[in-house]
Amino acid sequence: MAGSGNVQRGLEDVIALESQICFIDGKQGRLIYRGYDIRDLAARSTFEEVAYLLWYGHLPSPAELTELRARLATLRRVPEALGETIDRMPKTAHPMDVLRTAVSALGISEPEEAGPGASAIGGAQRLTALIPAILGRFHRRRTGGKPLSPRPELSHAAYLVEALVGRAPTELEARAIDVALILHADHELNASAFAARVTASTLSDLYSAVTSAVGTLKGPLHGGANERVMELLDEIRTVDRVEEVVRAKLARRERVMGFGHRVYKVEDPRATILRDWSRRVGEEKRDLHYFDLLRRLEEVVHREKGLYPNVDLYSGAVYSLLGIPHDLFTPIFAASRIAGWTAHVLEEYQDLRLIRPTARYVGPVDLVYGSPAVRG
Ligand code: ACO
Repeated sequence: MAGSGNVQRGLEDVIALESQICFIDGKQGRLIYRGYDIRDLAARSTFEEVAYLLWYGHLPSPAELTELRARLATLRRVPEALGETIDRMPKTAHPMDVLRTAVSALGISEPEEAGPGASAIGGAQRLTALIPAILGRFHRRRTGGKPLSPRPELSHAAYLVEALVGRAPTELEARAIDVALILHADHELNASAFAARVTASTLSDLYSAVTSAVGTLKGPLHGGANERVMELLDEIRTVDRVEEVVRAKLARRERVMGFGHRVYKVEDPRATILRDWSRRVGEEKRDLHYFDLLRRLEEVVHREKGLYPNVDLYSGAVYSLLGIPHDLFTPIFAASRIAGWTAHVLEEYQDLRLIRPTARYVGPVDLVYGSPAVRG
């Protein structure tokens, strides 16, 4: 056996780097972006303001915010070559696969803005501005619609909703999505941010780093959980069936999506805020079906496993009430987390150290070439 020291499976509790972007207090259930509590940001800020905060390290002045909004608005139009690439993708593709491929394709046409030392911030803003349009272009095509021209006067949240559902959101809907975008914008060294930083740490470009991140977010143990929560709710259907379905799931040692977290040992503060928004949107729509199911689900899972909800439990219910299909939930997560991923890549470029851990080798070392094991 080669390599000494303890193996930290899943890198659990390993402090891999220093960062000034995001702090999670898993015991108190607090989440801080650049010094500001997520609860204050969710109550008083906007996604654009939070993106600025993550990228530049401080809140924008009114003039800086106006400038960023204007810049993002000018970057909303999908370049022709990218549009053609998206239009060639199969309509049956998962939107996360489409997004991953589109980000990668964009990296071919926009490489000058993306490297370390260059103005990678330009690439960060271009990607942030474009993701809703990329998703909208694909989604409208697969549902038989024509691409929409993004309206520059809309907030980022309203533009995202319009791109996905083809209509302007109500004020409450736009604010619900704005809050969801704020809450998902960063989360310290989560798997997808880490993947982005690993890629950036090789001096690779921003688009490659974000491509890695999108692929990592897709997994159901990470961003893909919100889609699975809705599948579970569709399977449960009525409040009186929650207990039976959950118990059967746990008996089969299956995971209940939307619960548990590697870092939070109490309720994820993002879940607390989204629970409230899920109720508010449900009340506006006069449809509390999902909200009631989720409340009961929380009770049963906590009683049976002592687990608390994470950010993915309530987000899907909010998106569903807006008429957004389930397979666009993780892409919405990406449309927000792009701010955090790119902030991490920018930070990595500032303090670059190739990320390259080591493995304890547990295979054989003394095989003789030509032996039966080698000839197989
Ligand atoms: N449902 C049922 N049991 C669970 C769940 C769950 N959601 N989460 C953890 N457990 C159980 C495990 O089975 C394990 O029990 P055991 O010791 O009896 O085997 C114990 O709790 C510890 O689980 P671990 O997997 O070691 O905890 P870890 O820190 O690795 O898990 C994770 C974190 C992956 C998020 C896990 O809680 C999970 O799979 N949750 C469901 C998926 C999900 O909601 N992901 C979204 C996370 S938030 C985000 O990425 C945006």
